[in-house]
Amino acid sequence: MLSVGVMVRLVRKDVTGPLGIKVGNESKWICMCGLSKNQPFCDGSHKKTEGEKADKLYMYDKNGQRIEINSSNEVYKTLI
Ligand code: FES
Repeated sequence: MLSVGVMVRLVRKDVTGPLGIKVGNESKWICMCGLSKNQPFCDGSHKKTEGEKADKLYMYDKNGQRIEINSSNEVYKTLI
């Protein structure tokens, strides 16, 4: 359940893996999934997105637990 007085921003992310870039001679991996606790860098948390279905909507709680959003759950009711 969302708490009153807490700012929440939902951002849709379809990408499930990092973006590799070169900084000088160093390789860096930029988080594109939004789940890393070490933003903007990938920390491997994108592995939690394995098994997501393209036609479903998910959110991840602060513990990294995946929750499918659908019209029958309480999360959905707080979003509409
Ligand atoms: S791409 Fe987000 S944690 Fe790896």
